[in-house]
Amino acid sequence: MTADALLLPKAELHLHIEGTLEPELAFELAARNGITLPFGSVEELRAAYSFTDLQSFLDLYYACMDVLRTREDFRDLAAAYFERAAAEGVRHAELFFDAQAHTSRGVAYADVVGGLRDAVDDAARLGVSGSLILSFLRDAPVEQAEAVWAEARRDLAGIVGVGLDSAEVGNPPGKFAAIYAEARALGLHAVAHAGEEGGPEYVWGALRDLGAERIDHGIRSLEDPELVRHLVEHRVPLTVCPFSNVRLRAVDTLAVHPLPEMLSAGLHVTVNSDDPAYFGGYAGQNLQAVAEQFGLSRGDLATLARNSVTASFASAQRQAELLADIDTWEAADGA
Ligand code: HPA
Ligand code: ZN
Repeated sequence: MTADALLLPKAELHLHIEGTLEPELAFELAARNGITLPFGSVEELRAAYSFTDLQSFLDLYYACMDVLRTREDFRDLAAAYFERAAAEGVRHAELFFDAQAHTSRGVAYADVVGGLRDAVDDAARLGVSGSLILSFLRDAPVEQAEAVWAEARRDLAGIVGVGLDSAEVGNPPGKFAAIYAEARALGLHAVAHAGEEGGPEYVWGALRDLGAERIDHGIRSLEDPELVRHLVEHRVPLTVCPFSNVRLRAVDTLAVHPLPEMLSAGLHVTVNSDDPAYFGGYAGQNLQAVAEQFGLSRGDLATLARNSVTASFASAQRQAELLADIDTWEAADGA
């Protein structure tokens, strides 16, 4: 029943492109750029993937990014992601990129965004549409975000929205309100991580202060019935990442993940992978795991896939194509 969740046509809406850096590619890029990683081998690096919370992951995540230096590196990283995504049924992907994590190391913004655009353009040959979401680091000084934004806004080709990520607790969304207001005025979409480790007040802040149209994670929204009512009434999508929540200990185990409660509350839930190289699986594997864990039917899986398409920022025409493909998948015998 669930084996072909991997082939179900879907959109990936919560994916940090830097979080797709597999250890093998990290070592390849380190060699290409003459950099020594603080790990002796692929196995040693993989063995470090044991996290106690979001911060313990972020420390490793930012350290590994040091191997990304050139436009070609960013293109190769994203090209590798698109190959994997296509093999797992992803037909549309919106990629977060942490520009500040690169510009703060002296990498040119133009090389970061240029390499990612090259890969997005090339992904069309795989039948995958893609776009970029410029994400600000909420735990860095807001002036750094403003500097990147001042550069980014001069050429927004390929960029569909702005996002907010990194360490949530103690870093409420409000200080990014002015940047978000400018981005929205330029026609960009607004999304933000909220309610991952932080409580419902961070979700309210993202909605009220940033005008967020989609909430990344949002699992702690369930603690506030008024917030749940608001999210349901306004059909605000939540990009839930089950493997991430388990690996970063936001939930104890997959068995107690709140996905079923979120679905039965009527929330517009999508299933995504976050940082798949670090958390054990890409979008299709996350879907397959929750399908097995919670005994989801073929119809339930098709609903999750439809949610991902209608929550996306893809064009109406692209959404219609993907919804038709999901209907075809649902009607087929998946045995
Ligand atoms: N949360 C916050 N910041 C991040 C994440 C996440 O799950 N992944 C990469 N940056
Ligand atoms: Zn994330």
